[in-house]
Amino acid sequence: MAEMMEAIDSQFDQLLPVPEDQRARLYAAMRHSAIGGGKRLRPLLVKASCDLFNVAYESAVRTGLAVECIHVYSLIHDDLPAMDNDDMRRGKPTVHRAFDEATAILAGDCLHDLAFAVLADERTHPDPFARIDLVRALALSSGPAGMAGGQMMDLTAETTPFDLPTVTRMQQLKTGALIDFCVEAGAILARVPEDKRVGLRGYARDLGLAFQIADDLLDVEGDAAVTGKAVGKDAAAGKATFVSLMGLPQAREQAELLVAQAKAHLHAFGSEADLLREIADFAIRRKH
Ligand code: IPE
Ligand code: IPE
Ligand code: MG
Ligand code: MG
Ligand code: MG
Repeated sequence: MAEMMEAIDSQFDQLLPVPEDQRARLYAAMRHSAIGGGKRLRPLLVKASCDLFNVAYESAVRTGLAVECIHVYSLIHDDLPAMDNDDMRRGKPTVHRAFDEATAILAGDCLHDLAFAVLADERTHPDPFARIDLVRALALSSGPAGMAGGQMMDLTAETTPFDLPTVTRMQQLKTGALIDFCVEAGAILARVPEDKRVGLRGYARDLGLAFQIADDLLDVEGDAAVTGKAVGKDAAAGKATFVSLMGLPQAREQAELLVAQAKAHLHAFGSEADLLREIADFAIRRKH
């Protein structure tokens, strides 16, 4: 994880030099959000899925960088006053706090765009068909049938009653869809046929749900000094989550069950899947 944090920081640093013109503020905002912080769990997942199929390191890091671009954009917009209205992210002021709302919206937009520029570049994969598959999969997992759709459901979770299946679907979209992409990325880069991806899909689905339950648990039990973001926000907003519907002990039990299930889906793999197994354990053991 430490290696991946360094690799992603260095990539963003190279990609985002601040120009000496009126756009300097936009680049500074992108750097503020993208560099120095975050677990880089999604790039690490991409690397772990690439490990299964001996995908080149540069392809893995660049694909991980693209997902991280989408993730950071989603965090910038998630923190805006119109959404969760948060002041702290990754231990720093949120972008609209450190800069302003208009700059934060544009910084998010530009990170979204950067994701696809990175994927379309030849250095990501020599085969244009593989690159197109990556672009399509990341676009689908980010849009209305993925992350953004889940964020829309999340906004309505403050005002309309949600049952367990609806919360599950919301989490599957808002957090699970990008995690699905990360796990599938290794198979796309290695051109692995669809029917050989079933176990990986099962792993990703269970991990995505467990990861968001852990996030919701941290909102209740976590320490803001460790998570780098405010806690207690979901309950204050009256937001339906696994924790609000099931209670703390059951939500934790559910997350543990999902992680065990996620790892069981990897039975066909040997030690080459150990990083995926460790990430699954980390997803619910984490304190940040
Ligand atoms: C937080 O994601 C937002 C969710 C989708 C749950 P992470 O917990 O991966 O946040 P960073 O990237 O480490 O800051
Ligand atoms: C955010 O979920 C999911 C995204 C797609 C950004 P949360 O709103 O729970 O994430 P945090 O707790 O602010 O990181
Ligand atoms: Mg939110
Ligand atoms: Mg939020
Ligand atoms: Mg949260």
